[in-house]
Amino acid sequence: MSDATSSQHQVCIAGTGSYLPEKVLTNADLEKFVETSDEWIFTRTGIRERRVAAEGEFTSHMAAKAGQKALEQAGLSPDEVELIIVATITPDTLTPATACYVQQQLGAMGAVAFDISAACSGFLYAMKIAKRLISDGAFTNALIIGAEKLSSFINWKDRTTCVLFGDGAGAAVLRRAAPEEGSILATEMGTDGRLTHLLNIPGGGSACPITPENAGQHLASLAMMGKEVFKHAVNRMKESAELVIERSGLQPEDIALVVPHQANLRIIDAIADRLAVPTERVFVNLQKYGNTSAAAVAIALDEAHRAGAIKRGDHIVMVVFGAGLTWAAAAVRW
Ligand code: UT7
Repeated sequence: MSDATSSQHQVCIAGTGSYLPEKVLTNADLEKFVETSDEWIFTRTGIRERRVAAEGEFTSHMAAKAGQKALEQAGLSPDEVELIIVATITPDTLTPATACYVQQQLGAMGAVAFDISAACSGFLYAMKIAKRLISDGAFTNALIIGAEKLSSFINWKDRTTCVLFGDGAGAAVLRRAAPEEGSILATEMGTDGRLTHLLNIPGGGSACPITPENAGQHLASLAMMGKEVFKHAVNRMKESAELVIERSGLQPEDIALVVPHQANLRIIDAIADRLAVPTERVFVNLQKYGNTSAAAVAIALDEAHRAGAIKRGDHIVMVVFGAGLTWAAAAVRW
């Protein structure tokens, strides 16, 4: 699905924020309860450690903290927020939406709030939706958040998944921009529902409720066919990044920074190579946090921004991939 070019209003990213829970779980910690090694995890993925939310710390709590920081940076008070979209596959409850809890925790009582479920692609799906709603004039600003408590949906005995994922949240404030300000230049998103079986949480939904009979089978845990997902991830991320670069009228050498989904360093390196962007212009923080699904690109964007790796006028490209299968990309002039 592509952008139309007749948008009335330019839309910029006015602030970013992120939140990571305090507890660190290292590869060495994992070695103690599952048959794995720091060497395997690091060489296959690039991950050294991940964060795990505290008991009683939910997705909404992390989302609200990241959102608060983004609002502060944007100079927007909670009562001015018009729209909150939370992208998550680990909601506090199946209903109501996690965005409703976030609205309450922020005190953003004037905002419309809802969730979207697009796995690791959710933050950029939310960006496209919010951008369009602002450019069409329905809202003047939006708080978009990617937040996950994946630790609640992991089978901690399954070494093929439990070493990969972590908890956290990232956020951005989008608002109507003046012509001289930065803007979201192009967005792209796609889905292939024929490949739902490659990456999913099979239980806990209406297809397979958790019952006393199946409760011990870890059906409400992430299951992934890693090798297959890997191949699709590289191809789809490369294609969608190329599309937004082309639609923005840019060349790869114009890109100051690529901020990709943080699942696997080998995937990131393969994409950088195929896009002909040197690895020093690709932001990586997965060694610290693992794969935080919808939160990953949002946390990376905030860290890159706060570290000074993104400056006013820079062109950046974000690109993501996840269960669905889903993928998305965005090109932004900061
Ligand atoms: O965020 C959503 C998108 N997700 C992704 O993009 C993830 C994409 N996939 C990947 O990143 C990689 O496929 C993985 C990191 C998940 C796996 O890496 P791989 O190089 O594809 O390894 P593999 O699954 O083919 O497993 C290789 C071997 C197997 O043993 P055998 O069959 O060769 O004897 C596994 O049993 O490694 C074994 N293995 C492990 N060994 C130690 C699997 N997990 C582990 C582990 N520790 N944690």
